[in-house]
Amino acid sequence: MAAIITTPRLLAIGGGALAELPGMLTRFGLTRPLIVTDPYIRDCGILERAAALLDRARIGSELFADTVPDPTTAVVEAGARVLSGGGFDSLIAIGGGSSIDTAKAMSVLAANGGRMRDWKVPAEIPKAGLPLVAIPTTAGTGSEVTRFTVITDTETDEKMLIAGLTCCPLAALVDYELTLTMPLRLTADTGLDSLTHAIEAYVSRRASPYTDGLARQAMGLIARHIRTACAEPGNRAAREAMMLGATTAGMAFSNSSVALVHGMSRPIGAFFHVPHGLSNAMLLPQITAFSAPAALDRYADCARAMGIADEGEGSQAAVARLLDELRRLNQDLKVPSPCAYGIDRARYEELLPVMASQALASGSPANNPRIPSNDEIIELYRRAYG
Ligand SMILES: [Fe+2]
Repeated sequence: MAAIITTPRLLAIGGGALAELPGMLTRFGLTRPLIVTDPYIRDCGILERAAALLDRARIGSELFADTVPDPTTAVVEAGARVLSGGGFDSLIAIGGGSSIDTAKAMSVLAANGGRMRDWKVPAEIPKAGLPLVAIPTTAGTGSEVTRFTVITDTETDEKMLIAGLTCCPLAALVDYELTLTMPLRLTADTGLDSLTHAIEAYVSRRASPYTDGLARQAMGLIARHIRTACAEPGNRAAREAMMLGATTAGMAFSNSSVALVHGMSRPIGAFFHVPHGLSNAMLLPQITAFSAPAALDRYADCARAMGIADEGEGSQAAVARLLDELRRLNQDLKVPSPCAYGIDRARYEELLPVMASQALASGSPANNPRIPSNDEIIELYRRAYG
């Protein structure tokens, strides 16, 4: 079966890529963007730089700076009203995955109406929204190149996956210099999210030779540089590698898929407000141990791509190294278990059935090399609790 590949039409990748913003818009004849960001990016100087570039090119923009971590339907609905009423022809999202995901969802809602939950997977989104130029400031969710957005339903606390061609940005500016001031925790959490994207894209049942190359490249970049990026925030080589790794991993999973880790991670994030990359990392070693017997050679390839196993080493030994490395990475980057994070055991236990059913309903576990039953998911949540 042919692999169907989706990517933005234009990418600018490298230090200083932000300067390409006006040129990106004018290439597509876009003259009236709504900028979508959060209060931190509004106030830290990055927005000011982007706005100055637009001013110099005489491109008039307006600002929606109310995005929140784990974007909610309430914020998306407010943003969609601003978008619908302002005569805009495009969106510019500047920020982490939350701002980019919010802009995507605003565009879907403004074009298609209804409620956000009407468009969660497996719904097909009929109308294309306004085009989006994405500028990530973390390395990262990869949202700047993916056909997904994840929005939390304010009424049910469900983290909903919304997917489709219309969610893929028109263009992205991937400028690692915007990540040089990222704090340690954010660097670690978003970096671990990227690593999870690359591993899951590679072991997914929907992987293809095209996504395999991207995933291997991303795993190599992230595994070799994540500790340095955390320990030395100003290390440009490490930041550049992490940014490229995050975008490449995004390309890989957008055209393959994520799998069981993401499926189980979203409910933890939604119910206990654990940052996305952190909830992935809490689960990654246990779920890798559960899944590896079903795809030993693929997981062994991951260890080789990460540079922790020799090419000639057998798959069983390489997978053992992978499991060791994932556990050690969590220790080195101070990833707590759900228990150590402060999640109440009784509340966790009480929510396990609904967390398992939301994980399965997201569709991601069906892409896993070993497809778990509802009871196995509950057991994995228990094992990961710590
Ligand atoms: Fe993710």
